[in-house]
Amino acid sequence: MAEAEKTAIEFQHVRKDFTGQTILKDLNLTIPADEIFVLVGPSGSGKTTTLKMINRLEEPTDGTITFFGRPVAAYPLQELRWSIGYVLQHIALFPNMTVAENIAVIPEMKKMPRDRLRARTEELLAAVDLPAKTYADRYPDALSGGEAQRVGIVRALAADPGVILMDEPFSALDPISRTQLQDLILRLQSKLHKTIVFVTHDMQEAVKVGDRIAVMHNGVILQVGTPAEIRQHPAAAFVADFFAGAEMGRVAWADTVAQVLASGVLTATSQPPTPAVTLHTTVAALAPQLAAGTVLAVADPRTRQTYRLDAQGLLNYIVRVHTAEGESNS
Ligand SMILES: Nc1ncnc2c1ncn2[C@@H]1O[C@H](COP(=O)(O)OP(=O)(O)OP(=O)(O)O)[C@@H](O)[C@H]1O
Ligand SMILES: [Mg+2]
Repeated sequence: MAEAEKTAIEFQHVRKDFTGQTILKDLNLTIPADEIFVLVGPSGSGKTTTLKMINRLEEPTDGTITFFGRPVAAYPLQELRWSIGYVLQHIALFPNMTVAENIAVIPEMKKMPRDRLRARTEELLAAVDLPAKTYADRYPDALSGGEAQRVGIVRALAADPGVILMDEPFSALDPISRTQLQDLILRLQSKLHKTIVFVTHDMQEAVKVGDRIAVMHNGVILQVGTPAEIRQHPAAAFVADFFAGAEMGRVAWADTVAQVLASGVLTATSQPPTPAVTLHTTVAALAPQLAAGTVLAVADPRTRQTYRLDAQGLLNYIVRVHTAEGESNS
């Protein structure tokens, strides 16, 4: 970071009770401007509640939240909300309005000039790969889930707020759309440099999109840092495990039989090699068979031995790879 960091949002000793139960305890958080700040944690850890206190959909029971140096409670509500875009997991587009009309709602309330609104809508739709010519006049029921989420992102950006809150914006999407939209957010952000507070329960997603990550558990922030800092120096066992879960998924899934053989975890067998399994077959392709209990055998050209590959062998491989990664990182 070249320039001095500016703080966009700050939580100071924030507590939140619901019906007498403390959900968030003494929350302290500094969210820098112009970065993607990710709140990651398991279900029920308090992520959505934290997010909603920023735009005052929830009020803290105790403590202060400041927005560019001024307590959120001191802003006129409308001014605060207009400065903050909001994207939800299930984007609620107005079904009786076209894509363009949905995008125009807030800018029109803010009295953005027509020409400027039209230009901005076209520009933003193009940026999310939804050309206005094709999509502007469509109704929401003619959009796929991924397309609707993109419109939701455009809608949140249309009035040009400095801050965008995103609550699990991609969680309901299939893995391919999800990856595409993660890439899209990173591309958009490299141009727009907004302050984005992004909530997810997926550590892999957090690491991919976050400049900085806060790990939450049971209403407490366990650690704040860059993805690399958290990976290298997890501050609590929970953080390390949460990270390990994501790493394991990433490492093992795309690996090939050749890598499994090279790890040395498989045991020799006299069973003949399974013809369909080659050195290039991926773990992802084999997992369903292994999970169903099939015992495969693979020939290793280096040792000229045949090895047994079953569910236990795969699990041993995952543990081996993960342990090796952990060691090389520390
Ligand atoms: N309006 C409410 N009234 C009572 N309890 C609530 C209310 N909203 C949230 N809670 C409780 O507060 C806790 C935190 O909820 P929150 O929605 O912030 O979690 P989360 O981390 O966003 O979880 P998820 O990943 O499932 O969305 C939960 O135990 C939830 O049941
Ligand atoms: Mg939530």
